Amino acid sequence: MVMGECEDDQSEPRCGKASVKSGPRTIFACQECGNQSSKWVGRCPECGNWNTYVEEQVRAEPASRSSARRVSISTAQPMPLAQVRFTQANRLRLAMRELNQVLGGGIVPGSLVLVGGDPGIGKSTLLLQLASEVAGSYGPVLYVSGEESVQQLKLRAQRLGIDGDRLMVLAENDLDGIIEHLEKARPMMAVIDSIQTVFMGGVTSAPGSVSQVRECAGRLMLLAKSSHIPIFLVGHVNKEGAIAGPRVLEHIVDTVLYLEGERHHSFRILRSQKNRFGSTDEIGVFEMRDSGMHEVSDPSRAFLQDRSLSEVGNVVHVALEGSRPLLVELQSLTTASTSTGSTCWWPCSSGEHTSISAVTTSSSMPRAACA
Ligand SMILES: Nc1ncnc2c1ncn2[C@@H]1O[C@H](COP(=O)(O)OP(=O)(O)OP(=O)(O)O)[C@@H](O)[C@H]1O
Ligand SMILES: [Mg+2]
Ligand SMILES: [Zn+2]
Repeated sequence: MVMGECEDDQSEPRCGKASVKSGPRTIFACQECGNQSSKWVGRCPECGNWNTYVEEQVRAEPASRSSARRVSISTAQPMPLAQVRFTQANRLRLAMRELNQVLGGGIVPGSLVLVGGDPGIGKSTLLLQLASEVAGSYGPVLYVSGEESVQQLKLRAQRLGIDGDRLMVLAENDLDGIIEHLEKARPMMAVIDSIQTVFMGGVTSAPGSVSQVRECAGRLMLLAKSSHIPIFLVGHVNKEGAIAGPRVLEHIVDTVLYLEGERHHSFRILRSQKNRFGSTDEIGVFEMRDSGMHEVSDPSRAFLQDRSLSEVGNVVHVALEGSRPLLVELQSLTTASTSTGSTCWWPCSSGEHTSISAVTTSSSMPRAACA
């Protein structure tokens, strides 16, 4: 196979050999971008990363191909666009306004949404709250956890004050089992927490590998489109800040949201990186408390509430995030320096040679530093 030749088309076989029915075959897949090769290579020709190729075994005909064919033959028929019925009212609008806004005005039926973020940032918390809201307002929701038992989910739900009859929980890692339950239950919405923990029998590489993530997400995408069930996937972020198999996964899904924040601050920002159904400019601001994620409807007030007017080196700056102006505090911390040639990013105090050691906002907004 010529590397990268099938990169852009997720619905097609990744190379000609895949159509030959034989036993499992060995491939080498880049764990960063999903590029494949029949031989191990040190540097990925697609993304340029070193030592990212891992041996994986895949069946000659992945299950997603056969299901793709089945869906296309049994349900999809060409029809005039004018006859397609969809209005904005079909979206599931949420009382959580920050989330509603980031999604572009609510959840689109049949959409596949990826929610990424650092470990412990609050992904499961946010999605359990979302699942509870949709269950209360619209109908049954299936929350599938491959990481926690149903008892552990119950523990979190109790802490968040969630006790829904229509919120179904399932601890399962096998994608075939998950799909079977989804097809049987036909919920209004489903959450898979996380995509790195589910596996497909047809792919022998470990859960979380690029092949597994791609095949599982591809299969869930087909299910979402054919059943109109919106599916939220939780994705873990690696140390570089990307989701495992990032490009592969981000191409497949409709919407990519990142939950960001700093461990020692309670504010969380939900940012849209890709959205097929809305703007990627909008952000949602939340505060993480023991009772869960609470919306921050006036972030400027929250960011500036601890501000001391008497301190030197502080300035309030207006930053435009999407359609929303935010007031954030910039702090300049200065220190005496023996160097004469230091470059400052922020005005230095006059007189002594000084350099800026850090420029930071008062909240969990991005930091910048210079020497
Ligand atoms: N009893 C508690 N009181 C207050 N905050 C808590 C409590 N238990 C957990 N938390 C907070 O919830 C966070 C974990 O939230 P959550 O499990 O939703 O994160 P996550 O992003 O899903 O994590 P992971 O990547 O491990 O799945 C913890 O980091 C902590 O800040
Ligand atoms: Mg979690
Ligand atoms: Zn690569």
